Amino acid sequence: MREIVGCVWSMLSAGANAGARVAAARSPFTLLQAATVGLDGAPRVRTIVLRGASEEKSTLTFHTDVRSEKVAELEKDSRIALVGCDLNAGIQIRLEGVARLAASVEERLALWSISRPHSLIVYRAARTPGTPIALPQEAHVASARPADSMAGFENFCLVTVDVQKIDYLDLSPDGHKRAQFSRRNGAWQGGWVAP
Ligand SMILES: Cc1cc2nc3c(=O)[nH]c(=O)nc-3n(C[C@H](O)[C@H](O)[C@H](O)COP(=O)(O)O)c2cc1C
Repeated sequence: MREIVGCVWSMLSAGANAGARVAAARSPFTLLQAATVGLDGAPRVRTIVLRGASEEKSTLTFHTDVRSEKVAELEKDSRIALVGCDLNAGIQIRLEGVARLAASVEERLALWSISRPHSLIVYRAARTPGTPIALPQEAHVASARPADSMAGFENFCLVTVDVQKIDYLDLSPDGHKRAQFSRRNGAWQGGWVAP
């Protein structure tokens, strides 16, 4: 059973590392859907790029705009659920945990400096995400490489998810398998469940 947990972390790690190198070289788990509790209590879900996965720390990381609604949602209720799927292999990974938003300036700076200019454009947008505009062009950012390379840094937010639950589902033709794990006192416990 333990090897399933290791396998899940390797798939997440492959997803995180593929995304960090070249946008085109994505793995099935580079893009995950992340769900939060909306400010009105209703579920909210959106796609994010997985930027880091640490089996040792049991954490995932992604980047977001501090002005985005998900940040306000996580500040109010830090619970978060994520899901990813490898369509070819028939594997789904569902994760639950709590999100932390308090990264140090040094940590954010290090990530900012290695990010591709194109991925930083969103943080340089003058308008808060979700602001109504007449036309899409109104929100376009003039240049991906502005004179001030730190432009937009104040909006750059690192979200760290402490993963507490894993639900693994394998729908491959040789037999469906599902396993659930919870992290207690630093160790994963769990086992097979009916799919
Ligand atoms: C391919 C793809 C990758 C995305 N990656 C991210 C990401 O890493 N971080 C992020 O905040 N939003 C990302 N987004 C945008 C979100 O899905 C979402 O639209 C945006 O963050 C606003 O969400 P919110 O209003 O719930 O905060 C991505 C969207 C797409 C289509």
